[in-house]
Amino acid sequence: MTDAMAAGAMPARDRAVTARRESLHAEGGANWDISDEVLGLIAAEVRPGMVTLETGAGQSTLAFLDAGAHHTAVTPSSSEIAAIRKAARSRGLDAGALTMREGYSQDVLPHLSGDLDMALIDGGHGFPIPALDWAFIAPRIRPGGLLVIDDVDLWTGRMLLDFMKADPAFQLEGVLRGRTAAFRVTERFMLREWTNQPYVVARSRWPQRMRKARNLAGLLARFDLGSVRAKLANEKRLADAAKADY
Ligand SMILES: C[S@@+](CC[C@H](N)C(=O)[O-])C[C@H]1O[C@@H](n2cnc3c(N)ncnc32)[C@H](O)[C@@H]1O
Repeated sequence: MTDAMAAGAMPARDRAVTARRESLHAEGGANWDISDEVLGLIAAEVRPGMVTLETGAGQSTLAFLDAGAHHTAVTPSSSEIAAIRKAARSRGLDAGALTMREGYSQDVLPHLSGDLDMALIDGGHGFPIPALDWAFIAPRIRPGGLLVIDDVDLWTGRMLLDFMKADPAFQLEGVLRGRTAAFRVTERFMLREWTNQPYVVARSRWPQRMRKARNLAGLLARFDLGSVRAKLANEKRLADAAKADY
């Protein structure tokens, strides 16, 4: 029996986990694989024909393919692409359902479009790449779909976790191994002005109030009542204008 046949006899969830033996990164010199729990999540969530996307590539790419997705992976590494295609062949997976886009996600994602059932953000982890990935991907996920962010223990992932926890468009399903956050999309997410983003409002309220209070105190100390009146009137205008923010 070949490896692919042996794997085919197992449920997809087990297969996704036990089949991970090839080193797919850094020309075979590294293994940056995602956790077994995330591979299991992909196997459990993805149904044949679903449209999925990930930034970065590796064992997760094979798991999406194994679950029957029409999957796109974005990676700048041609050696990863070759290794993943080879691994897919040796596992007997349908490589026709896999689109691998060679390039950095910040260059590739602006040219992609269409609704997604599930996405995994696990490409570049330096600021602001996860946020850029997220800005292009989150609005594309249909309500009911799943958005998974890896490495939320890094600050660049953590800011996404904190933002999404406060936003009504996302429902946190769990954080796997303290590292990978999975969010259900409850309504279509839109990029809005900060006044309509609960996390940004909450994080900004006190720093902004303190700054304004200091400025007012300075004017009062100089008995500059005209400027105080002008500032208060401007505050009212700003508050009214914010009601019209997108
Ligand atoms: C942690 S690994 C991904 C692991 C993969 N999810 C798995 O299950 O094996 C990070 C990946 O991001 C890729 N990468 C690094 N910078 C990137 C960028 N700016 N855009 C897209 N991919 C990037 C790397 O080549 C690598 O494939």
